[in-house]
Amino acid sequence: MKKILVTGACGQVGSELVPALRTKYGNDAVIATGHKTEPSQELLDGGEFHYIDCTEIKCIAEIVEKYDIGTIYNLTTILSAKAEANPQLAWDVNVNSLRNILEVAREYKCAVFTPSTIGAFGPDTPLDNTPQITVQRPNTMYGITKVAGELLCDYYYRKYGVDTRGVRWPGLISYVTPPGGGTTDYAVEIFYEAVKHGKYLHCFIREGTYLDMMYMPDALESAIMIMEADSRRLKHRNAYNVTAMSFAPEHIAREIKKHIPGFTIEYRVDPVRQAIAESWPNKMDDSAARTDWGWTPKYDLASMTTDMINKLSARFKK
Ligand code: SER
Repeated sequence: MKKILVTGACGQVGSELVPALRTKYGNDAVIATGHKTEPSQELLDGGEFHYIDCTEIKCIAEIVEKYDIGTIYNLTTILSAKAEANPQLAWDVNVNSLRNILEVAREYKCAVFTPSTIGAFGPDTPLDNTPQITVQRPNTMYGITKVAGELLCDYYYRKYGVDTRGVRWPGLISYVTPPGGGTTDYAVEIFYEAVKHGKYLHCFIREGTYLDMMYMPDALESAIMIMEADSRRLKHRNAYNVTAMSFAPEHIAREIKKHIPGFTIEYRVDPVRQAIAESWPNKMDDSAARTDWGWTPKYDLASMTTDMINKLSARFKK
């Protein structure tokens, strides 16, 4: 069997996707790569790990050839707030790396998974029940790179037959590796602060700001599911809206209070991230993913909150 390459493997998604893929396909089948962040012991113990810079096409080609790679999960990315702080770097990492990966995939006939995001929408997008196909026009560098990525992946599919597939992930909530520099990260921070201190005193997104969210196990499932889907059923390819829940900060706070009754939240709104959040959907319509490849999330706000609090409490008690 051809092997799987995961780029950006030390990030929030990669650090959990690699073990999930290794459990499913075998340790030897999955090659993990990262750039600057140090890999966890779990990543190192589970199989091959290499440092590569995806903005250098040679690094990708060498590894694809060496390990006879058939599928690439491209998780190399700079998230929204960090991209606003350094737009030039964000373009280089998010677009040029993808272009390199697609070029290598064309030559070596690899399938490519690339996540897009709710950030690929913008202020002119209908923000409620955001359709699969609609106005995008994001006004952040992150969003611009992600729309460019969606289009580039479609182009490589149509022009060269590269088997590109992708989803638009919402904010992802997880307890293994924290996200870095995103707008939806408040919904991760809140759990850490709740479990450690019983309060979250600097929620940087304002009350009443709805955003789509998803728990990590569902996000991993969506990536694996779309790569395993029957290609004849994929009408959209890049990229399918997928969501699991939509809430504002006060809703997650209320849910946490059911487990930690004294929990309190205070707001210290960051204007940059607040503006980004307001330009993103309140709730996407993901019916195309449900119809075309059977997407169904398992976790809602209540079940995710229970699991996050149990997992983090166990960790911080040690
Ligand atoms: N979680 C991402 C961010 O906030 C959205 O895709 O940047």
